[in-house]
Amino acid sequence: MNQNLHNSEKIWINARIATMDPQVEAPYGALKNHVIGVKNGCISALLPVTEINLDDFHGEIINAQGLWLTPGLIDSHTHLVYGGQRAGEFTQRLQGISYAEIAKSGGGILSTVTATRNLDEDQLVEQSRPRLEALVAEGVTTVEIKSGYGLTLKDELKILRAAEKLAADYPLRLRRTLLAAHTVPPEYKSSPDRYVDLVCNEIIPQVAVEDLAEAVDVFCETIAFSLEQCERIFTAAQKAELGIKIHAEQLSNSHASALAAGYNAWSVDHLEYLDEAGIAALQKSETVATLLPGAFYFLGETRKPPVDLLRKYRVPIALASDLNPGSSPLASLRLMLNMGCVLFSLTPEEALKGTTCHASQALGIAETTGTLSVGKAADMLLWDIDDPAQLAYQFGEKSLRQRIFAGEISDV
Ligand code: NIG
Ligand code: FE
Repeated sequence: MNQNLHNSEKIWINARIATMDPQVEAPYGALKNHVIGVKNGCISALLPVTEINLDDFHGEIINAQGLWLTPGLIDSHTHLVYGGQRAGEFTQRLQGISYAEIAKSGGGILSTVTATRNLDEDQLVEQSRPRLEALVAEGVTTVEIKSGYGLTLKDELKILRAAEKLAADYPLRLRRTLLAAHTVPPEYKSSPDRYVDLVCNEIIPQVAVEDLAEAVDVFCETIAFSLEQCERIFTAAQKAELGIKIHAEQLSNSHASALAAGYNAWSVDHLEYLDEAGIAALQKSETVATLLPGAFYFLGETRKPPVDLLRKYRVPIALASDLNPGSSPLASLRLMLNMGCVLFSLTPEEALKGTTCHASQALGIAETTGTLSVGKAADMLLWDIDDPAQLAYQFGEKSLRQRIFAGEISDV
């Protein structure tokens, strides 16, 4: 018997395994008639059933009875820790007022900033809990949470700490991103560059010292930060040895994706206005293109991200919820799988890659998560489906049977 399997604590037999590993040459990286073992929270074996002898195995055997096993879902872009809600703004937008107009008149992100500043850390945790629970229940095993509704040193740190406290209550991997450069706070309205000074000279270094985030993000847009300001923030992030992410090309083409690719950003996100030159720049980097169909849908946008060109240049595509109160109050990554296909013409396989292997790359953790491969974390989902495409095709029907985090099973 293979040493690896023999040492495993638990094995799953009779699963159809969608590894999502690009090195496995089959749709969804699928392996038939394989057994998967876990030990110490990681995948310890992945072997053809013909090569093993179960009589010698004394650990726990789980019979998957022909169900499909996939990697845990990874939501690589959320703003789920915030206070309040913006249903009033939603109603305004239905009457024809645009997202940008609402932002310019002091609503939008800034109204959530006020609500978030008014909560203490524990209140923020409790207000955010139902959103995280919704993601966990549908199979998310890794989530990214951004700050960005504090916009002071104290309040940005409060959000990152709240994210950590909240996530610790669930079987979940957390990646935190500092988005202090989400918008210019009212206190700096007349001197935005001074706010960028604060972000670069105080907030980023402090977050790094306290180890409160793994990456830095910035919203590059006419209503937020300029290319030059983004570049300053990227430089500060690099100095602090933090990953780089950016909200780019959402409402206009600012060429921010090409700039970010030059810094080998982990991801560039939104991308409705991304052009071919930007995509060519992405191709030369390891940067992932993250699409956010929830925001496209919720804001009633019509310009779609250039999916065909991203495919042509072989840029990895991730798909995320962008869960936030203004442009995507949609606490479901499964819904994004469906929207990615229906709204952006992704294939179901591309959509699932976008929430597994490419999402892990967008968070700088491709070495340890995102595919079912020996040595990676045993974050796995067992689904009662006949075809992995059903994960993007159906929505709302309960098909998750087991949620496995670091090798531990929780029934769902
Ligand atoms: O990703 N683009 C900027 N940030 C969010 C929206 C935040 C908000 O409206 O509160 C986004 O769409
Ligand atoms: Fe966002």
